[in-house]
Amino acid sequence: MTTLGTPLSPHATKVMLLGSGELGKEVLIALQRLGVETIAVDRYDNAPGQQVAHHARTITMSDPAQLKALIEAERPMLVVPEIEAIATPMLEELEAAGTVRVIPTARAARLTMDREGIRRLAAETLGLPTSPYQFCDSLAELQAAIDGENGKGIGYPCIVKPVMSSSGKGQSKIDGPADVQKAWDYAIAGGRVSHGRVIVEGFIDFDYEITQLTVRSVGADGQIVTSFCDPIGHVQVSGDYVESWQPMQMHAAALERAREVSKAVTDNLGGQGLFGVELFVKGEQVWFSEVSPRPHDTGLVTLCTQHQSEFELHARAILGLPVDTSLRNPGASAVIYGGADAKGMVFDGVDEALAIPGTDLRLFGKPESFTKRRMGVALARAENTDTARSNAKLAASKVKPRVV
Ligand SMILES: Nc1ncnc2c1ncn2[C@@H]1O[C@H](COP(=O)(O)OP(=O)(O)OP(=O)(O)O)[C@@H](O)[C@H]1O
Ligand SMILES: [Mg+2]
Repeated sequence: MTTLGTPLSPHATKVMLLGSGELGKEVLIALQRLGVETIAVDRYDNAPGQQVAHHARTITMSDPAQLKALIEAERPMLVVPEIEAIATPMLEELEAAGTVRVIPTARAARLTMDREGIRRLAAETLGLPTSPYQFCDSLAELQAAIDGENGKGIGYPCIVKPVMSSSGKGQSKIDGPADVQKAWDYAIAGGRVSHGRVIVEGFIDFDYEITQLTVRSVGADGQIVTSFCDPIGHVQVSGDYVESWQPMQMHAAALERAREVSKAVTDNLGGQGLFGVELFVKGEQVWFSEVSPRPHDTGLVTLCTQHQSEFELHARAILGLPVDTSLRNPGASAVIYGGADAKGMVFDGVDEALAIPGTDLRLFGKPESFTKRRMGVALARAENTDTARSNAKLAASKVKPRVV
C-alpha cells in the first residue's frame, strides 16, 4: 500500500530533485499534484524547477561533501537525479547506509553519469548491439583506435565525444584523417570535466533514431512490471534534439527488437522509474546508443500525446503507483532556442503561436539565455504526426525571444 502525506507537515512525503531544469520542473509539477513535498536542487538560483517547488536549494551537486550535507539535512524519502553531473559515488554510499533511496538506483545513476559505464554494461556485459567503440586518453590513442592493426580499426567516418558531456557538447564527426586533431581538440574543450577522455564510435548509417520510453513500476501483485510508451522519433542537430514526434511508425520486427534491448538494459539498471532508451534503427536492425534513467528531452512530446506524460509516469513509478503508458493522440514537439546570450529575455508572438490549432507551449523560465540554450518547446497534437510536426515547428517559429 502506498500512503502519501501532507506537504509541510510532520508526515510529508518528501522528494528531492537533483537538477531542476525543464524536465525536473515537469516532474516537480506532477509530484506537487499528488501533494508531495518537493525540494528542488540546482547549481544556480531560480532554476525552472525551483520556481514550482516547496523548497529551493543551490549547491554544487558534483561536490560529495555538499551533496551529503544537503541530503542529511533534508532527509527526503527519495532522491531523484535529473542530470548526470552528480557525485554519484556519494549517492551510492548514502543509499548503502540506508540514508536515502535513489531513483532508479544509485548504481544506475553512477553507470549512466558518463558514457563509459553504460556503454561497457550494454555492449560487454549484456552483449547488446552498439556501434563499434574505443575509449582514448590522447590524440595518439584516438588515431590508433581509428586505424587499428592491419586496418581493422573503427575507421572513417566516426564520431568522437567527451566521456562526460550531454546535448552533443564537444561531439563531432570525423570524415577522414584531416579531421582527427580538430575533433580531439573540440572534445577536450567541450567535456564537462576536463579529464581528457573520449569515446570514438563507428558512424551508424541509420534510417532513423528513436527514444523508447520504458517504465519500471510496481504492478498489482507488488512485483516490478515493465511497460513501454509508443516509440518517439526525433531529429538531432549537432547532437542536440530539435524536434520529436510520437508515435514513430516502425517495422514490427524493429519495434520488438527495440523493446527487447530496452528491457535488457532497464532490467539490469533496476529500481523504479521511467527510462529513455536511445536506439538507432536501420531496416529491422537496432543498435543501443544510450539511456537516461529519467525523463528524456525528446519525451517532452508526451505532454501532448499521452494520457500520462513521461513526467507523470516517472512521478507515479517512483512513488510505487500504477501507470498507464497509452497514447492519446499523435503529436510533436519543436525546440525554441534563446538565440542570444542575455538575462531576463521576453518572448514575443506567444499569441500567434497558440492560435495554431492543437498547439501548446512550455516556456521554461530560465533566468539566463544562451544562443543555443533551450528556452522553451512548442507542442502540437493532430490527427497524424506529419501535421503535428509542421504545426509544432510553425508554433515554435512564432515565438521570438527578445533581449530587453
Ligand atoms: N555512432 C553514431 N553513429 C551515428 N550517429 C550518432 C552516433 N552517435 C551519436 N550520433 C548522433 O548524435 C546524437 C547525439 O549523440 P549522443 O546521444 O551520444 O550524445 P549526447 O551528448 O549524449 O546527447 P543527449 O544528451 O542530447 O542525448 C545521436 O542522437 C545521433 O543522432
Ligand atoms: Mg543522446
